[in-house]
Formats: sequence, structure tokens, C-alpha cells
Amino acid sequence: MKQFTYLQAIIILHISLLFNACGDKNTNKEENLDDLVVAEISTDYTEQFRPQFHFTPEEKWMNDPNGLVYHQGLYHLFYQYYPDDIVWGPMHWGHAISKDMISWEHKPIALYPDELGYIFSGSAVVDIDNTSGLGTLENPPLVAIFTYHLIEGEKAGKLDFQTQGIAYSLDNGDTWTKYEGNPVIPNDTGIKDFRDPKVYWDEETNQWILILVAGDHAKFYKSDDLKEWSHMSDFGKEHGAHGGVWECPDLFQIKVGETDEEKWVLLISINPGAPNGGSGTQYFVGDFDGKKFTAEHKDHKWLDWGTDNYAGVTYNNTPNNERIFIGWMSNWNYARNTPTSTWRSAMTLPRELSLIKENGHYFLRSNVLEAFNKQLSKVSEQEIVSLESPFELDHGNFNQSEVTFKTNLSKQLKLEFTNNKNEKLVFEIDPANQKMMIDRTASGMVDFEPSFAKGIHSMPYIVSNKEVDVRVIMDWSSVEIFVDNGKYVMTDQIFPTEFYNNLQVSSTNKISLKNFNLNNIKSIWKDE
Ligand code: FRU
Repeated sequence: MKQFTYLQAIIILHISLLFNACGDKNTNKEENLDDLVVAEISTDYTEQFRPQFHFTPEEKWMNDPNGLVYHQGLYHLFYQYYPDDIVWGPMHWGHAISKDMISWEHKPIALYPDELGYIFSGSAVVDIDNTSGLGTLENPPLVAIFTYHLIEGEKAGKLDFQTQGIAYSLDNGDTWTKYEGNPVIPNDTGIKDFRDPKVYWDEETNQWILILVAGDHAKFYKSDDLKEWSHMSDFGKEHGAHGGVWECPDLFQIKVGETDEEKWVLLISINPGAPNGGSGTQYFVGDFDGKKFTAEHKDHKWLDWGTDNYAGVTYNNTPNNERIFIGWMSNWNYARNTPTSTWRSAMTLPRELSLIKENGHYFLRSNVLEAFNKQLSKVSEQEIVSLESPFELDHGNFNQSEVTFKTNLSKQLKLEFTNNKNEKLVFEIDPANQKMMIDRTASGMVDFEPSFAKGIHSMPYIVSNKEVDVRVIMDWSSVEIFVDNGKYVMTDQIFPTEFYNNLQVSSTNKISLKNFNLNNIKSIWKDE
């Protein structure tokens, strides 16, 4: 894993600032070179709560993943970034690259605010046919499509302060130039929330499709060249959850299991209004004819019932058309208050989405990418679990536990992680009451914001198989739980003040536990 030294980081920062200062329209008027205090980037990723195998910025504030795109052997991860503080501020696009989406290399900031506004969330595409004319056929441009948020407009009470802009890179994401004709989609809708464009190339209709959100619905646009866009249709006023503003849409076609059937999935994040409070991501399954999205159902489903998977979207241009998802592992209810020191927030592990059909209903499954398995080393594998004695956890909070559980309405499964300070994280499956739960109310530091430890997080669960697999992936400050091959997912942040050192696996009926595996997880930031 390549990491920059302090000196390298400073040199790179200066080069990128100079580059940004050169383009006239692209100059960030708010950042004056003379005023800039270059922060010392000196993390060795050992600060309290620092995730060891989830992406985090070296320092400062991060929110949504942006511009997820694969190009020439590299997976790019851009992200909402504020380089001057560990709370949200004028948004930039931070940047990292990876060959496998597990280990990451940090890159200099990709996009800076300019006179059209802060750089809010959006996506990136490889313009292979150079439809935009911003590159050449030999060297097709990477094009980022994002929202400009003009703070002066917002403060003046205007409604048109969010517009869409583009920027391009001819060196696989290292340097970016903003398009001189920005904004490419001005806001004439009269709706102030008008943001988060996701763009992809539509093979059927041979055009670019862009989906953005406008308050309580999604809007669909088309373009031949990424510069001129025309509005086609809207979706959602009458569909789904409306407890808050719609954000960060995504639209993709996906196969149904191993069949030849294909469906379209529309992801929509919403804040507030998620089932366990605050921010969450709902989805709709249906069809898209190149112009209009039609849902199979009026209601919505939730991608993840934990409280900490928000604004997630999927990669464009993956090598085998895999649908790979990354979400921001936080919640606007308390994102600004979490007890981390030099940085704030992490991304979820990358998850491959697949679609299944059961009894006429479609469900998304989320499964952590196989590449993650290289971080694992086996500690224990047992056929039948002895319930009396807890498992000792001797690798900090960096572990994965897997249980195969024989389901039956009268049996419950409980996993309880504890430490010497009586802090505990409890996960439970209760088939009789058709639910599964995460209780983090006594998991460690919880009182930094009242909503963090408010109640137990639960999700509906219906026994459908004789045996069900449970996979719990724990990092220093998060837990990701996948049940029934990723059909049920819960992601929660946790802040234990000491590592959990015991895991008690229990059930109301001994023989209901089939086998149990415990793995340690290696850090992506160190060679262990
Ligand atoms: C979602 C979001 C987006 C917006 C960005 C601003 O978390 O609110 O809608 O573009 O964050 O940072």
C-alpha cells in the first residue's frame, strides 16, 4: 500500500493548487494560495476508532461516495470532502484509487469549488467514443458530472442555486479541467433541491442518461454529448418513502438471479425518513424504456436497515458489468458529532448487488466483494458451537464471525460482543417475532448525540430457509451484518472505548447452531 510521506503530500498539494490556480474559470475564488495553511498529513491510521479495512480520508471531513468509475485497471473513488475541518463545509471532491476496492491509495483533491459553487455529489463516466469532444478517440476523457451548490444563492433565498456541471480528465483522474460551458443543466424547475446526477451510457438507445433528484422525485434527462441535456420524465411523487428529501439516485439494469430476465433498479437515498431514523436508502424495481422508469410496486424496499449506509451508488464501467456498490457509513442525524479526532466518516465495504425473485417479489442482495477475503485469517472453525464458553477475541475489533443457524420459529440466535468495561453490541435474530435487531445502546461512546443510541435497530425477517447464514464484519467503529446470503443487511457505527474481547454466541436451542467460523481481519494500511 503506497502512502505519501509528509513532504510528498505537500509537494502534491502545491502542484495541484498551482494547477487549479491556472485555469481562470476553474480557479477556486475562495481559496487564496497565500492564506492556505497546509495541514500536516501524518496519520499512520492508528488513532482511536480509525477503521482498519474500510476507506477513510487521511484526515478531515468526508461524506458521500462520488464518481465511482473503473478505467484502465483502476477503480476510482471520489468523495464529498472538506479539507479544512472535520465537520461539513465547502465541498470538494476528494479522490482515491484502487485495484480491488479493498486497499486504497489516496490522491490529491480532484475538484475544488469555483465561482459557480461548491462541488456536490455526482458521478463519472468514461466517454469511450469521445462524444463530448473533450478528449480524443485515442485518449477518451473521464467526465465527472456533479452538482454546483452556490452558497450565495442559497443565502439570498433563491431557488436556482443548485445546477449541474461537468469536468474532464485526460490522465485517468489525476488532473481535472472544468468545462467552460458550465452549468450544463441550469435549474429552471423552481425546486431548490436539484442535485446528485448519476450518468450512464444507455446501450439500447445509444445515448447518455442522467438521473437527478428534485425534492420529492427523480428526473430523467438524455444527451448525445454530455453537454446538452433534455428532460424526459419524472418518477416518484406517488411512490416510496417521503419522510425527507430525495438524494443520490442511481439507475441500473440487472439480471434476475441466473435467469435471462432483466429488471431495472432505481436507488434513492432519503434524509430523514429511514426506518431506524435519519438517513437511509430505498429502492424500486421496475422497467426503464430509455425515457421513463415504471416501478413494479408503489411501495419501496430498503437496501440496508442499519442506520449507517447512506448516499450509496454503484460503479460505472466495471470490467464484467458487475454492480458494485459503496455507501457512506454514517447518518446525517449525528455524522458531525461522532467521536473521531483527525478525520470523520468511513465508506462501507464494497458490495456486489444482485437481484432475486421470491414469490413474485424482487429483492436486492448485497455481498461483500470476494477480494475482501484476502484480508482474512482463520482463527477458529467449529462444527457445533459450544454455547457455554464465549470466544476470546484477541485481534482488537478486527474480526469476522460467521454462523450457520438452523431456523425454526421457536429458536433465536444471539451474538453478543463485550469488553471489560461492560460495553456490548448485541445482534439477534428472532424468527418468532419476524425480526432481527442490533442493539448498540450500550456499545461504548453513545452520548455524543441523542439519536445515536435511541432504541434498538430492527428489521423484518421471515424464515424462508431451513438454514440461514449470518456474517458479521466488525471494524474498530462499525459492524456490517449480512444474513441469508446478503438478503438482509444492517450496517451500524459503534464506538467501543476498549476493543471487545469476548463473543458469546447463543441460541434458545443448542442444536440450532450448525457451525461457526471466526476470522481475524488484516489492516489495509499496514503490512501485518
Ligand atoms: C447527501 C448529500 C447530497 C449532496 C451532498 C452534499 O448526503 O446531501 O444530496 O450532494 O450530500 O455534501
